[in-house]
Amino acid sequence: MERIEEIKKVIEEKMNKVNSLEELNDLKVLFLGKKGLITEVQGMIKEIPNDSKKEFGMKVNEVRTLFNTIYEEIKNKLEEEKINKKLKEEAIDITLPSEKIETGSIHPFNRIIMEVEDLFVSMGYDVVDGNEIETDEYCFKRLNVPDGHPARDSQDTFYITEEYLLRTQTSTAQAHTMEENKEKGPIRIICPGKVYRRDDDATHSHQFGQVEGLVVDKDISLADLKGTLEIFAKRLLGENTKVRFRPSYFPFTEPSVEVDLSCFKCGGKGCALCKQTGWIEVLGAGMVHPNVLRMGGYDPEVYTGFAFGTGLDRLAMFKYNIPDIRYLYTNDVRFLKEFDRKDEE
Ligand code: PHE
Repeated sequence: MERIEEIKKVIEEKMNKVNSLEELNDLKVLFLGKKGLITEVQGMIKEIPNDSKKEFGMKVNEVRTLFNTIYEEIKNKLEEEKINKKLKEEAIDITLPSEKIETGSIHPFNRIIMEVEDLFVSMGYDVVDGNEIETDEYCFKRLNVPDGHPARDSQDTFYITEEYLLRTQTSTAQAHTMEENKEKGPIRIICPGKVYRRDDDATHSHQFGQVEGLVVDKDISLADLKGTLEIFAKRLLGENTKVRFRPSYFPFTEPSVEVDLSCFKCGGKGCALCKQTGWIEVLGAGMVHPNVLRMGGYDPEVYTGFAFGTGLDRLAMFKYNIPDIRYLYTNDVRFLKEFDRKDEE
């Protein structure tokens, strides 16, 4: 009985000092383990005279219950503390300002496509996609460029096989769109994309961007072409932009024109960029050749149309004041970042 009272004291003394679940577990072993203090006195019951056995047994149970009660209490407390500590450590202050995430900017080449698309879509045009790998048929024959024509010279065109090539112009969209229009009704499309030519020197790149335009309907005239391109130039580059048409030649248009815009740098006064002329050539255009209409399934006696093609790189240089075409292709982050800022303006 004395031993039991002693154990009670040890329990109270030791349990008060427990600081962690590990320590608590050690105490469980100390009291209730195989050689534990309570286990030990429990084993003594055999030696107790029969008349005291009951009382002794109750005392042992009492001390066991005491231990278990205190044990549970401390265990709960320590576990709660542990969870609270963890919650505190892992708490996220959602009111803190976040780190600024670095984002890219829209590349000027894509940006000019978006602007040109918006402009023509607002005038009722559809935007069509073309393939960069084309056939000789659609890149040349259907555009009234027969075999042996200098425009398909192997010096200009990347041929993949005799039949397949990298398109040298987005005019391929003319032939495709006319053919795909099953009702042979009116057409109003633009087709932006990359084209390829086998020349690269200081002013030419083997890959560059073009946007094609095609309108086919009854009573379309050169005046419609002129008006459309004037609106396009002024809306894209500003009301002060002047447009000049010069006679020219393309196999797929008749008559053909070349279109100049007043120099974006000097406004037409004359500078190094425009070679003192005040003008910069940006567009080829004309009335769709009757042969091209016919090959597209349209009757040139009923339908007429105009087409134009312009270099996207040049337009981007005009629009964003880019002094050197190489900036568009070298992906210098310092240059591209400039466009980031323009986004915010
Ligand atoms: N495809 C011509 C070029 O690449 C441009 C053009 C398009 C001219 C449509 C007339 C009509 O130079």
